[in-house]
Amino acid sequence: MVPANSFREDVIAGLSLPQKALPPKYFYDAQGSRLFEAICRLKEYYPTRSELALTRGHISEIARFARKNSTLIEYGSGESMKSRLLIQALRPSAYIAVDISADALRHATAKLRRLFPWLDVLAVHGDFSRPLKIPMTQARGRRVVYFPGSTIGNLTPEEAHAFLRMTRGQVGPGGAMLVGVDLKKDANVLHAAYNDAKGVTAAFNLNLLARINRELGGDFRLRRFRHYALYNVALGRIEMHLVSLVPQSVNVGNYRFAFDAGESIHTENSYKYSIAGFRALARSAGFRGEKVWLDPQGLFSLHGLVAA
Ligand code: SAH
Ligand code: AVI
Repeated sequence: MVPANSFREDVIAGLSLPQKALPPKYFYDAQGSRLFEAICRLKEYYPTRSELALTRGHISEIARFARKNSTLIEYGSGESMKSRLLIQALRPSAYIAVDISADALRHATAKLRRLFPWLDVLAVHGDFSRPLKIPMTQARGRRVVYFPGSTIGNLTPEEAHAFLRMTRGQVGPGGAMLVGVDLKKDANVLHAAYNDAKGVTAAFNLNLLARINRELGGDFRLRRFRHYALYNVALGRIEMHLVSLVPQSVNVGNYRFAFDAGESIHTENSYKYSIAGFRALARSAGFRGEKVWLDPQGLFSLHGLVAA
């Protein structure tokens, strides 16, 4: 479970930093999960389309790699859209979905139970950035962790390393991982994907402030902040910020935070990897990179890793 007071503590700590920052895991309340699903359907947001295309295109090989009758554990399962393809092809003995968004998790697992009545489906509401115990009583056969969507890109390389070490321990020797990783590419393509014309990404970003108002009694005035996303070439990551348009102060409970005009809250990183760069990271965490699948345009990758 996600401790109720950790949201408040993380917000107060993040807004007290010299460069104000909020952890991206808090985007995903019910409204945030709906907005993220809308982002996935935007023409500019290529990652979802590309990963679906590569999964459909290589599904037999992916299934051979993961093997039938395994236990499939998905982190950040969201609406479990890509998992449906995998479940059909793999016929795992159990599917364990882990997500911080209670609403997304409930809807997705209810749908999977309807679609696959033969499948043992377990929903785990939890935060994978903290030590997380997954009940493995239902686990049978080989363990395969599925981490699609390039959610790994929202972690710093250090956090990604720690996450991979944790999953390495979970799958055990010979266990496997399928990780969706967005690739480095033309900065214009990246810029468009995070600055869509309809403003859905802006609404997703601003919902974080709305959530602070709703749940923590904050008084952010959303019109006084603007969504800003840029590709930081040196660090190989998209950065999302919320920029204060005027000098202002904002209250969250008993705390008051001052903003200069132009000052930002850093809300998300989305790291883009080269294939070799991601393989090196996986290797350093105890995984052997066995397979890489790409979409026809070479925008996105799915890595098949085996615990060494
Ligand atoms: N796997 C889906 C969704 C990706 S969006 C896809 O590929 O489209 C990222 C998902 O990870 C969201 O559903 C969000 O709620 C979840 N998430 C983000 N941070 C998390 C954390 N720290 N712990 C658990 N779930 C998290
Ligand atoms: C979930 N995650 C991989 C998305 C990304 O692309 O980094 C979240 C997102 N942020 C803005 N648009 C989508």
